[in-house]
Amino acid sequence: MIAAVFSLVLIIAAVIFLVVAAGVCYSCLRYRSRGNAMAEPRQVFGSRRVEILWTVIPLLIVTGLFVVTVRAMVAIDASQDSSRAPDLVITGHQWWWDALYPNGVLATGDIHIPTSRRLLARIQSADVIHDFWVPELARKMDAVPGRASYIWLEADTPGTYGGACSEFCGTQHAWMRFRVIAEPEADFENWLTNEAGERSADAPRLLYFSDERLFFSKGCGSCHSTIAREQSSGKGPSLAGLSRREFLGGGISRNTPENLMLWLTDPQAAKPGNRMPNTPLTADERRVLLAYLERL
Ligand code: CUA
Repeated sequence: MIAAVFSLVLIIAAVIFLVVAAGVCYSCLRYRSRGNAMAEPRQVFGSRRVEILWTVIPLLIVTGLFVVTVRAMVAIDASQDSSRAPDLVITGHQWWWDALYPNGVLATGDIHIPTSRRLLARIQSADVIHDFWVPELARKMDAVPGRASYIWLEADTPGTYGGACSEFCGTQHAWMRFRVIAEPEADFENWLTNEAGERSADAPRLLYFSDERLFFSKGCGSCHSTIAREQSSGKGPSLAGLSRREFLGGGISRNTPENLMLWLTDPQAAKPGNRMPNTPLTADERRVLLAYLERL
């Protein structure tokens, strides 16, 4: 829709340019000085007909473009009526994005959407002003603290679309990247049920495994959730499904054991300015925690 408006403006501007350029060229050739043989051409001072023409034609063009633009704006903008339940709630944090689905699944970094329909997304912020932007899929939308804004999120073809925060929000603004993964309806539903089925948030934590016990006893669990259907603490990103992510820390590094280990040894080196404290860990504990993170 935006592309159609752009093309229309481009065509009209090109026609005007050609008409003006042709007029200038014609006048240069037709009325050029030919020695002193010719007198000055006839001078016209004020012509009602010409003045009406050069007022009315631009007015019609501008009015037409105004109508077309407003129609496009109405068509692509989601209603800001907050009484309608959104299909997903996207929250900007310093410095990561997560998306909450109606069935309670919280996805961090990678936002899955179906290609068959458009989703109404609520954009909000947990701290400062961010800006949600997936250049190939939707318009930009600010995430303003204390305020909900709505956009349509839609992809015609399956694929992975890169997104970024586009409002300066602190030292790691540049590393607030995310991906939108668009897939056919069946694949999307599969993914969503899979995530939801992993483990319920209300199931008692039995802490069968010693590595999981360590994760919680070291306090990691007070900021990071490890279950897809658990609400974000707001202090740190959810680590549910971490092993399936391609990137860490809002895109700052690839999800490799070495890069993951850096978060355990020196979080500030992994992503300077982030809010993760340096927890004293022995080499053995780090090894155990790394193995735990890798099976999430
Ligand atoms: Cu968030 Cu820039």
